[in-house]
Parts: sequence; C-alpha cells; structure tokens
Amino acid sequence: MPDPAHNREVLAPTFKGRVLIIDDEADIRESLETLLEMEGYLIELAANAAEGIDRLDKGRYDLVLLDLMMPDRSGIEVLQDFRQRDAETPVILITAFGSVEVAVKALKAGANDYFSKPWDNEKLLIEIGNLIAKSRLERENTELKRALKERYSFPNIIGKSDRMQRVLDLVAQVAPSRATILITGETGTGKEVIAKAIHSHSARAGKAFVAVNSGSLPVELLESTLFGHVKGAFTSAFANQKGYFEVANGGTIFFDEIGTISAETQTKLLRVIQEKEFMPLGSNEVMKVDVRILAATNSDLRKLVEEGRFREDLYYRLNVINIALPPLRDRKDDIPLLVEHFFRKYCEENKRFQDAAGQPKLRFVAEAMQLLIDHNWPGNVRELENAIERAVVLASEENVPVDVLPDQILHASGMKVRRDESGRLPPDASLFEVVADFERKRIIEALEAATWSQTDAAESLRIPLSTLNQKIKRLDIVVRKSKKDSSNQ
Ligand SMILES: Nc1ncnc2c1ncn2[C@@H]1O[C@H](COP(=O)(O)OP(=O)(O)OP(=O)(O)O)[C@@H](O)[C@H]1O
Ligand SMILES: [Mg+2]
Repeated sequence: MPDPAHNREVLAPTFKGRVLIIDDEADIRESLETLLEMEGYLIELAANAAEGIDRLDKGRYDLVLLDLMMPDRSGIEVLQDFRQRDAETPVILITAFGSVEVAVKALKAGANDYFSKPWDNEKLLIEIGNLIAKSRLERENTELKRALKERYSFPNIIGKSDRMQRVLDLVAQVAPSRATILITGETGTGKEVIAKAIHSHSARAGKAFVAVNSGSLPVELLESTLFGHVKGAFTSAFANQKGYFEVANGGTIFFDEIGTISAETQTKLLRVIQEKEFMPLGSNEVMKVDVRILAATNSDLRKLVEEGRFREDLYYRLNVINIALPPLRDRKDDIPLLVEHFFRKYCEENKRFQDAAGQPKLRFVAEAMQLLIDHNWPGNVRELENAIERAVVLASEENVPVDVLPDQILHASGMKVRRDESGRLPPDASLFEVVADFERKRIIEALEAATWSQTDAAESLRIPLSTLNQKIKRLDIVVRKSKKDSSNQ
C-alpha cells in the first residue's frame, strides 16, 4: 500500500500547513479533506472526539477544524480541554446550525472562528490561511522577543561586539549554577560588573553579594574580616564580629584581586571551598555556610602557581569556569555605545545637557570620536568612563571638541602640543605640533591686532567665532579682556 501521507505531499502544490479535521460524519471529513489538500495543506483525520483528543495530544498542527456535535463528546468540551494546554493553535468550529448562542459559546471556549454548514468554501479557505499566517507571526514574535530579552538582559553591561556577546552568553549560561568562577581581565575591563551580573542572574539574587578586596586588606585583618572573630580573639576584639562568609550565607562572595592573598589565607579559603565550613578566629566552633564563590584577578594566576606563590589546588578549585574579559582595544566597536551609555549616566548625574525628556544632548565632534576609537585604552572601560565624566563636566556646548579629552589621550595620539619651560617645541615635534604651534602664533597675532576682540579676530582670520573659541581653548591661549566684546554682550 502506498504511504498516503507521502502521496499527499507529492500532490500538494506548496505545503501550507498541517490541519487536523475532527468530525464524525465521513462525507464532511472527505469534502474538507479534498478542499484543503488541493490548496496544499497536509491533512489528518479523526472520526470522533476521543480520536481527535488523542491526535491533539501527540501531534502539532497549524490549525484544527472541529465539529461541534459529535456522539461521544461535544466540540466545545474538546476545545476547552485543548485550550488548557495550548492557547495558540487556531481552532475553527464547524456547527450544524448557526445561532448566536452557539457562536458566543464557541468563541468563549477559545475558538478563533466558527462556520455553519453548509459553509462557503472560498471564505473558509481565506479564513484558514489568515489564521495560520497570524499564529505563525505571533509565534515568531514571541520567540524573537524572548531571544532579544535573553541576549540583552544585562542592562548595565554594554557590549555588542562578538567578544562581549560571547562573554554574556557564557555569563547567562553559568549564572544559575553554583559553580565557582574565575573572572580574568586587565584592570577596568568590568570584572566586578560581571561578578554582580552572575549573582543577580542566579537564584541567590535576593541574598547578599559581598565583595572582598583582597588586595587592600592587611593579612591579619583579612582573616577576621572573612571568617569573623569571637570576643577576645585578639587584643582589639571587644565583641563577636560576623565575617563576610557568614554575611554572605545563601548569597555570593566575590574575591577581587585573588592573586594577592597570603599563603595562609589561601589554605583557609581552600578549606571553605572544599568543606563549606570554617572557624571564626578564636572560636573552636565550626560554622557551616552555603556561599557561592566568585574570584577575579588581573594578574596571571597560572604564572603565580608556577612561581609557587599561589596554591595549585586552590587555583583549580577557583578556575572551574573561566570568564576572560577582552581588553577594550580588542572590541573597539563597543566604544561608541559605551560613550553613549556614559553620556547618559553623567548628564543625568550632573544634570547637564539633557533635553526635556532627560536624554543626553552631548556628542563628540567626529575628530574627537575618532581619537577615542584610536586610543589603546590601557585602563579599559574605567579609563573611558573617566574621560566621559570629565567631558560632561567640562563641556561648554553640545558638540564636544577634542580639547575636552584628557591629556593622556591627546598625548598618545600626538594631538597635544608639548613645550619646554620657555614655550618652545621639542626637537622631535610632530607635524601636528608644528602646525598647531603656527596656528597658535597666528591667532595670538590676530587677537592682538584686534585689541583682543574675539569677534574682530575671527573676522580677520575668516573663521566662525565658535571655531576661534575652540581653538583658543585647545591651543592654551590665555585671552585678555576686550572692551569691545564685553560691551557687546
Ligand atoms: N561592559 C560594561 N558596560 C558598562 N560599564 C562597564 C562595563 N565594563 C566596565 N564598566 C564600568 O567600568 C568601571 C570599571 O569596571 P570594574 O570595576 O568592573 O572593572 P574591574 O575589571 O573590576 O577593574 P579592576 O581590575 O581595576 O578592579 C565601572 O565603573 C563599571 O561600571
Ligand atoms: Mg575590580
């Protein structure tokens, strides 16, 4: 016997969808089947409610045609039952008699439409086509939204570059687990930001996130800070003191600069990780805790292990999963986004250059943006953030000029004119420095000739007044007051 399903596909002009017909009358089933097959639908048939329910349980359909009156169960019941599990698949009810009550009942039970016998083939086909198209669109939309939400559910982390997207995918993947994670990256790459994101995307989000700066605490203090102490444990221990591990119970503890902890603390930390218990200083009672451990370092831990300065076993305990943050210079496509993000943050914080809707109005002139993109950012995102904060505070107009950038960026790009004490250029002056120096001399001459009226000087130099203003700032020209300009204002 030939496979009927296979036959249907061969006959079908273009496959339009899979439709289930549930009807107890054979001639109705057949006429619907013929009609729909000719249009390119793949049909399955059920001769009663029970069989229909069975097929709905097992298969997925693009649309269901359901008879209202069947001997075993009514179509309304089948529909109500089906809607408990599936709110999306469109269902059309076929009724023997079209009455308003039946229509209302059908729609209430979750039917998308109903047709009464004898139906109009043309209309039925149009409605089937529309319902399938609509439900596909809705499904695609929800999937798209979910995908978008999953990808960008880190509101404070900017990173569209492939490198950062890979990091964020990994963060999303490992955050819900209990795994210990070692976050590595140069200074300012966002290690703490990532640690917080891991915490807030885990089931521990409601509990404490405790960050320990291992580098800045003296050894003796580090231990009592971590594990707590009991009264009298050492001379200045006047009372019992909870340690970070106790505070973080149920939550996350983050060891920043883990490479700097002492050998002794390394041993104790290893014990906490392995046994999930510790003893406060001066106490002989063991405390049990449930704490997830994250650690970060900007030094090469593996090298410290090789040099015998970091315990190998602790290294492997911490480095269950490694998240390596790329330096900013390796993901330059994120720079414009970060600039926008920090403009928003600091315009808001300083209440400067915001429009009526609170949006930041500042933007860098193209030349300045190019410098930001070209810079190699040894201090990474933190360095960029500082540069933007400074620009927001110093800017005097919406278009931020080059001279508002920090010296180290201008120096690095050769855009800052170096001078010795008597104001002379160095012997290895760049072309930019020579040109800028000439420009400066020419502008001072023009200003002097115009008795320091900037309006007149701009006119004689044939440049707009705003350009002259920018140049005066950028070229460090000390202006003198002009009677003319001040009386004009
Ligand atoms: N992807 C990012 N999106 C937005 N802000 C970021 C991002 N990465 C870092 N920052 C910001 O940059 C600054 C430095 O980040 P963070 O303190 O996490 O860096 P770090 O790697 O821990 O640096 P260090 O090694 O010096 O401790 C913070 O103000 C942080 O908010
Ligand atoms: Mg840090």
